[in-house]
Amino acid sequence: MRAFLGIGLPADVRDAIGSAIAQVRGLHAPVAWTAPENRHITLDFLGEISPERIALVERTMPAVASGIAPFSLTAEGGGAFPGTRNPRVFWVGFLEPLELVRQLQQNMWNALSGAGFAPEDRPFHPHITVGRTRGALPPAWGERFVQALSGKRFGYVPVSSFTLYESRLGPGGAVYIPHCDFRLAGSGKREIREEKEP
Ligand code: 2AM
Repeated sequence: MRAFLGIGLPADVRDAIGSAIAQVRGLHAPVAWTAPENRHITLDFLGEISPERIALVERTMPAVASGIAPFSLTAEGGGAFPGTRNPRVFWVGFLEPLELVRQLQQNMWNALSGAGFAPEDRPFHPHITVGRTRGALPPAWGERFVQALSGKRFGYVPVSSFTLYESRLGPGGAVYIPHCDFRLAGSGKREIREEKEP
């Protein structure tokens, strides 16, 4: 199963993002916009893994979830990876403070690497992917996207759990199917495992 761990979004946040990007969508640039139901925050992409590894993730994640208390995030504004001048991924971001989501992702990474999973090869930037470039974009298109979303607030994301998703690739794009939820239950920012020295 192709799998990843992430945080689902409330419908009002997904819809508010949809309304904000409607203007830039209407410009018909070669961008594949994500379906509202596919909008989420990725914590760790696991890739294609065996049923045994899925079971290992299911056994490992409750300890991660029990180390972080529920928190909330505020979705606001947007940007592009790797940058607005050469955008490949368009995203909606979050207001600081982001300590708890970073701590959650770090604890998750520590637990996964302790269980033998390969490390994420990119730094964690909490975001919601809303579009992916599919061809040559008009000049300054990245700036235009960022300006269209600048200062716009899309609402609160209460985070009381995270989810193991299956990503099914099909002709109409990916479909993300929630496989298992892990409820946050900690009382603080407890580390469940120290990061290994390099
Ligand atoms: P992104 O939204 O930050 O791009 C499901 O495929 C999710 O896993 C995507 O939303 C994507 O996060 C993330 N992901 C990370 N690495 C990936 C990869 N190599 N292939 C596909 N998705 C990846």
